[in-house]
Amino acid sequence: MSGRRERDGHRIMVVAHRGASEEAPEHTLAAYRKAVADGADALECDVRMTADGHLVCVHDRRVNRTSNGRGAVAAMELAELSELDFGSWKSPGGGAESPDSLDPEGTAVLTLERLLRLVAEADRPVGLSIETKHPTRWAGQVERRLLELLRANPVPGPVRVMSFSARSLQRVKTWAPEVPTVYLMQFMLPGNRSGRLPAGARIAGPSIRILRRDPGYVARAHAEGHQVHVWTVDAPEDVELCAALGVDAVITNRPRSVRALLDGL
Ligand code: G3P
Ligand code: CA
Repeated sequence: MSGRRERDGHRIMVVAHRGASEEAPEHTLAAYRKAVADGADALECDVRMTADGHLVCVHDRRVNRTSNGRGAVAAMELAELSELDFGSWKSPGGGAESPDSLDPEGTAVLTLERLLRLVAEADRPVGLSIETKHPTRWAGQVERRLLELLRANPVPGPVRVMSFSARSLQRVKTWAPEVPTVYLMQFMLPGNRSGRLPAGARIAGPSIRILRRDPGYVARAHAEGHQVHVWTVDAPEDVELCAALGVDAVITNRPRSVRALLDGL
């Protein structure tokens, strides 16, 4: 399958999913620094609220899989989370070959505020796609805090807020209509098939599984005026499918090789 829209000058954006998370521990400064060095156009991160109201970049409800600690993020304070090592699960022994093994901040819990600083200090504009995880639990506090942080820490690249929750996106649209929102879809529900999105959403965020089954979705979403940002696109055949369909962004754990693949199509 050919990358028609790439050749037509449509440059597909590469978004580093949890950082360059195939090679570096997800959601750490090490992973995000690598993604920037690898040429990612934007960085994806999941945010959760700690017991004392900080937003940290952690995917799972609990820290058990990605750190040397145990427990739910929502039940822990930032100071407790800061004691944990979020790097060695990926590289047993501490990753002695990595320069970030010399920098404990590189594998510490990452706050959204610190990630915004990394993006602000990058040598080129880098976008940020921030996903609110289980926002209903906090009745709007996650979105409020997120928007406060964005206002206090402006970054040069585009910032988008993503969620599987239409309600979360509606809050963002109401409180910050200028921030583009991405509606994430794991499965194609009948109401989404037309390419239309819930009221608070501006961009469609289907999983790659949806496009494998229903490639026509991209054209329908485009016809409704929505960009299409697809996740998680790691396999070369999926990258080629996305290029052929002319999606607007691919969210990938492998930003360097996916960029190279897209540039070669
Ligand atoms: O970019 C969207 C994607 O990250 C959603 O799934 O589980 O990896 O957060 P998940
Ligand atoms: Ca995510």
